Amino acid sequence: MLGKIITVITLLTMKATATIYYAGVAESGGEFGVYSISGVVGTGLPGEFGVTYQFINEATVDIYVEQNKANINLFRVAFLLERMCPIATGLGATFNETYYSEFAAAVSYITVTRGVYCILDPHNYMRYNNPSQQPLSGSVIGNTSDPTAATTAQFAAFWGELAGRFSSNEKVIFGLMNEPHDMDTNLILANDQAAINAIREAGANQLILAPGNGYTGGHSWTEEWTGNSPASSTVMYQITDPVNNTAFDIHEYLDSDFSGSSSVCSQLASTNLAPLTAWLQQYGFKAMITEFGGANGTECDSYLTDIVDYMADNSVYIGWSIWAAGPLWGSYSACCANGGQWGSLEPGSVAADGSPGMYETVWLLEIEPLLPTTLQQTGMSSVNGGAGAGGGGGGGSGNSSSSTTATTRTTSTTTSTTSTATAVPLYGQCGGIDYTGSTVCASGTCQYDNPYYSQCVL
Ligand SMILES: *[C@@H]1O[C@H](CO)[C@@H](O)[C@H](O)[C@H]1NC(C)=O
Ligand SMILES: *[C@@H]1O[C@H](CO)[C@@H](O)[C@H](O)[C@H]1NC(C)=O
Ligand SMILES: *[C@@H]1O[C@H](CO)[C@@H](O)[C@H](O)[C@H]1NC(C)=O
Ligand SMILES: *[C@@H]1O[C@H](CO)[C@@H](O)[C@H](O)[C@H]1NC(C)=O
Ligand SMILES: *[C@@H]1O[C@H](CO)[C@@H](O)[C@H](O)[C@H]1NC(C)=O
Repeated sequence: MLGKIITVITLLTMKATATIYYAGVAESGGEFGVYSISGVVGTGLPGEFGVTYQFINEATVDIYVEQNKANINLFRVAFLLERMCPIATGLGATFNETYYSEFAAAVSYITVTRGVYCILDPHNYMRYNNPSQQPLSGSVIGNTSDPTAATTAQFAAFWGELAGRFSSNEKVIFGLMNEPHDMDTNLILANDQAAINAIREAGANQLILAPGNGYTGGHSWTEEWTGNSPASSTVMYQITDPVNNTAFDIHEYLDSDFSGSSSVCSQLASTNLAPLTAWLQQYGFKAMITEFGGANGTECDSYLTDIVDYMADNSVYIGWSIWAAGPLWGSYSACCANGGQWGSLEPGSVAADGSPGMYETVWLLEIEPLLPTTLQQTGMSSVNGGAGAGGGGGGGSGNSSSSTTATTRTTSTTTSTTSTATAVPLYGQCGGIDYTGSTVCASGTCQYDNPYYSQCVL
């Protein structure tokens, strides 16, 4: 009974706000192991898989997907450009095939084995050739005054090659670059645009996420200062995509300086994101917040609730990934802890004092109850929720009764008895008004989401 009431409320809510199509967690680790306190160029390159760097832990990806009952469908996987494209051969279409295959295995596990979406994240701050003191070191890509800098054309060649390799995988999302900063915003636009063109020329039509300046901060999107000029808002609207499937990539932390380094939350996203939201509405763009977070403790709880609810309530936001899980964090806190060793969002992580880590204290306690009810489970990644895999990514309506996908967190189980057809794969539709297919799940059980949709879930 309670389940039914919740379902009705959920349906009403979905009509107004069914816009969060992708939600999950950032996987950080493929970019690890290159920091040098004295700035020694080349530190940690190429690195050693499983020791200095590692992309995901398959077992903990399983935990996220299974424990959250199909209410997360996104992982953002970081990698390092200097490992993918070794400095000896330069940024471009020549990859270190060993590193690439390790990365591709992680992407394949997420998208094929688990069937959820994956953002490819070059974690390079729009810099290439010296990650030893990132985010500050390395030549700015496209800086024509710096003879050692990689060019915009090289950045495009890199993206054309990478996207071409994934062009038939509808569950990937191309995150063009993590957190550009302290450079001419017009050069960010030029680099983003060159990459978009190269991706489309490679025949890949999936969702692209384009960053702005200022570490792509949402609160500062309309602001300008030295190194963050012109304001992203006065430049980035010029971006174009031949298939209209690009959204902006936004990061938003909740501590005083928006850095995600403090355990004290004091910045309210619903207030700070208002100018960005108005700008997105004005120009008809969508955005995804691919980094945000807060420490454990009741004090950040209301700020995390605020940002997740704000995204759900404003249709210009189509998804989010929280920072961060990953196989190599140990007891270190990926987000928001003043150096405190309270664990990460990696399932099983523990604080230095042996108490539960942030998967339990932040994800399960604070984020899990807020998970969206509108996630996309099939079709090509899209600004419109992937209402079809064929049409170049446009054209979806987010309409919850369309054939694709809406799922809800209500989980009252129905037992189905009538089917004679073949079994439905995991996350497939197995019931609903006007549904005529099989009601037998190949794996998992058929769970009622709303009158129009039941789904096979674990
Ligand atoms: C390519 O990556 C592998 C794995 O990290 C590493 O062992 C190898 O030395 C790298 N090759 C180059 C040319 O960087
Ligand atoms: C571009 O390169 C020049 C020459 O090395 C340097 O002075 C300038 O700071 C660089 N610009 C940026 C944004 O890094
Ligand atoms: C992209 O959007 C523009 C502006 O709304 C429209 O004119 C154009 O036809 C769209 N292109 C595709 C491929 O949907
Ligand atoms: C997070 O948990 C740790 C370990 O239980 C605790 O010491 C710390 O005070 C908590 N942080 C906050 C902000 O509550
Ligand atoms: C939702 O999509 C279905 C199938 O495409 C369509 O028949 C229906 O009219 C749409 N409803 C709304 C409210 O857009």
